[in-house]
Amino acid sequence: MKYSFKPLLFSIASLILLASCNKREDASPSTMSGTPQPPRIDTSHPVIGEGKPLPIAALAAAGQKIFYSTTYGKIKDACASCHTDGLPTTKDTRIRSGHTLVGVTNRTTTWNGQFKGDALAKNAFGGTMCAVMYLHKSDAIATVMSKGDIDALNAYLEAIKNNPDAITGNIKIKWVTKPALHEDDKIDEKAANSAAKAIMMLPADPAAGKDTYDRTCAYCHSMTEKKVGLPLNKGMETPQIGARSVRCGSAAMPFYTKDILTDQQIADVIAYIQQQLGK
Ligand code: HEC
Ligand code: HEC
Repeated sequence: MKYSFKPLLFSIASLILLASCNKREDASPSTMSGTPQPPRIDTSHPVIGEGKPLPIAALAAAGQKIFYSTTYGKIKDACASCHTDGLPTTKDTRIRSGHTLVGVTNRTTTWNGQFKGDALAKNAFGGTMCAVMYLHKSDAIATVMSKGDIDALNAYLEAIKNNPDAITGNIKIKWVTKPALHEDDKIDEKAANSAAKAIMMLPADPAAGKDTYDRTCAYCHSMTEKKVGLPLNKGMETPQIGARSVRCGSAAMPFYTKDILTDQQIADVIAYIQQQLGK
């Protein structure tokens, strides 16, 4: 599939548009000064002096806007919270649950075979699944995004395909359980519980867990306050529930496969949360 882009490098209007798009997500929560900044996922903090936005056409610019929007669905979360686009805006210290979307337009299948052929472009390469499962934009993959939004996202994904660290081949997502698209969908309980048990058997180090927590969970959770997800003093009834939800996901919470978080990292994060909760 081909998208054509008129270079708009010299169009002041598009540069203003792109500059305002880049305000959509705070760039680097913990590396900007000596003392770590509290991680944020809100949209109100501009990215300053972090490199120039790409010159891309208006359709792609509209797609970029969706990519960075934390108000696209009901959950205050953006594609950029969980995927990078290879731009400096997403070159932060965050550990994202999803792989890079740089190069995704070269894939012939996504979501472990759920989307292939024509379905790829009709679903923003599988972004519709994320819009239902994670953004809670609506319940149905087929209608969750308008055709215009899908075209815009496809144009953006095409425009970023040569950004750094592309994955151009198909990804085998090594999930423990097939994720639940809707909250009531059943997942493989046995597999989920045994994965959580294996994690809980590891000797864990809360100090080591702090860094992973800051880079992974803190964007969406606090110990005591509601953020994107619920406060962990209420949400993590048992360490095993914590380990299970990290590995397998839970409602709008994404799953983390082993290539993104190892069993040891999850064990350490859970130990850190337990310590912070005084348990
Ligand atoms: C809460 C986290 C989260 C959000 C928000 C999210 N995704 Fe995803 N996405 C994932 C996870 C986890 C996967 C599983 C596969 C992976 O590791 O990339 C995935 C997979 C995908 C894939 C398929 C990758 C493949 O090759 O199988 C695409 C395409 C995608 N997301 C696009 C989007 C788009 C576009 C948006 C915004 C509309 C979005 N995602 C929002 C977490 C998220
Ligand atoms: C992209 C946002 C996001 C990230 C990152 C995230 N969570 Fe969540 N988490 C959620 C959402 C949304 C829920 C759903 C619960 C709710 O708020 O209604 C949730 C639920 C949970 C629950 C309750 C699960 C249940 O089934 O009762 C736990 C425990 C939890 N998260 C722990 C973590 C830990 C630990 C991390 C880091 C490794 C993490 N989360 C990272 C968004 C996130």
